[in-house]
Amino acid sequence: MSELVQAIAERALAYVLDPPAGDDPVVALAAPQDLVTVFGEAAGLALADIEEPSGDLALLRAVELVVQHSVHTSHPRFINQNFAGPDPVSVVGDWLGAALNTTGATFEAAPVFTLMESAVLSKLGRLAGYDDGATTEIPILPPGLFCPGGSTATLYALQLARHRRNPDVVTSGSSGERLTLFVSAAGHYAATKSAALLGIGTNAVIKVETDATGAMHVPALAAAVKASKQAGEVPFAVIATSGTTVTSAFDDIQSIADICEREHLWLHIDGCYGGSALFSATYAHLLDGVARSDSFVWNLHKMMGMTQQCTALLVKNPQQLAACFAGKADYLFQPDKLNAEYDSGDRTFQCARRIDVLKLWLSWKHHGDVGFGHRIDHSVLMADHARHRIRSSQGTFVPLVEGNFTNVVFAWIPEADRSIVRDGTELRSQSPELLHRLHSLPARIKAQMQAEGTAMIGFQPVDGLNAFRMLFMNPSVTTDDVDAMLALIDTYGQRVSVAT
Ligand SMILES: Cc1ncc(COP(=O)(O)O)c(C=O)c1O
Repeated sequence: MSELVQAIAERALAYVLDPPAGDDPVVALAAPQDLVTVFGEAAGLALADIEEPSGDLALLRAVELVVQHSVHTSHPRFINQNFAGPDPVSVVGDWLGAALNTTGATFEAAPVFTLMESAVLSKLGRLAGYDDGATTEIPILPPGLFCPGGSTATLYALQLARHRRNPDVVTSGSSGERLTLFVSAAGHYAATKSAALLGIGTNAVIKVETDATGAMHVPALAAAVKASKQAGEVPFAVIATSGTTVTSAFDDIQSIADICEREHLWLHIDGCYGGSALFSATYAHLLDGVARSDSFVWNLHKMMGMTQQCTALLVKNPQQLAACFAGKADYLFQPDKLNAEYDSGDRTFQCARRIDVLKLWLSWKHHGDVGFGHRIDHSVLMADHARHRIRSSQGTFVPLVEGNFTNVVFAWIPEADRSIVRDGTELRSQSPELLHRLHSLPARIKAQMQAEGTAMIGFQPVDGLNAFRMLFMNPSVTTDDVDAMLALIDTYGQRVSVAT
């Protein structure tokens, strides 16, 4: 067995140290059935009713196929989603955490990781301004916890919000009030999923209109809260998004906090994507007012390149976590055992908790604050370069949203239509036939890209029209990569237009 383990570990390490780049494919596209067939030559993907042990050679061949057919998210031309470019230190940190295989629930099982988690949460809390009296000493009760992903952390935050409004909710369930919460129309769907799980229902989520950049229109929030109250509902929380998924827009936290304070609403910040702007001296101002919030979710596995998942839920009043989530299991959280006061397990819904902090701690210590800040600044620089290229493309590309952070949203226009479509505003007033044709292009262009494996770039509807979205967070992306990706879109665009 040790030879197999060694061989797999070496393969993984070789991948981390020398990941695909440049003209290497971003993806070796294969249809589901083709994948099943290819793996049939190694250790088949399916498991038989009676699965016999596979030999090392078959497994190592399968490992190669796993690598070959996985999407290379560290490739500079993977700019498809809100994560990319894993930090190598984080990857191996994750392995070390897995090797030590423990649960973060108790100090007794995870002494180092318990302290590390407190130290990291304390520093994240200080960056967010949740630092009432906080020092650099490691707190026994940190200002939050690590959660398995931003959606789960959002669920936790909304339960905290509901608990503040109605402390009996934990023991007695719903009070029967028709609770409502508010998030911008560009906010993440974690809000509605959480509402469904909390039992307040998806109709309790009131979507507030956004401005042209995708940021919440604050007067519309005030009006929506008022209307909800007039309808006999009970507003209890607002989610302000710092870095929306599609356009990386930042809601105006200060103005939203004014409304929340006036109306006694819990203010939750969804900083899953853009929270990391706090690492940058240049862009931290995008979260001005974050210290006035009650909770804040921050995905370090997005912009900071931590391996998935690495999510911090920060809370203004950490005592409330136990009030909400304690199960008081006496086989785990014995009050009379050594160092019981350090246990984090009774502050979370989970029992066992993965060690997500080690990779972040290692990476942060390695890069320092300056290195973390640089990662953000570099990403915005690449986005600025893309914006510049798009604006000066003489109609080949048309910006659809005026962004100022890491996401660039735009359309590719076929040559024949460039004289009529000169900017995003004009685009909207085009004939339904032209809009229909433009809408169909990104999917077809992307399919060509995937088939040749040259790049992966996201697209989604923006106001009903499919648009490309380039997102920058991988520090190895260069301006040459940006230019190459735009050139690829143009090449494939011409190809699919001719084919129409
Ligand atoms: C703004 C925002 N909030 C929340 C989430 C959900 O985070 P997770 O995927 O970790 O559940 C995402 C994920 O893309 C996001 O972009």
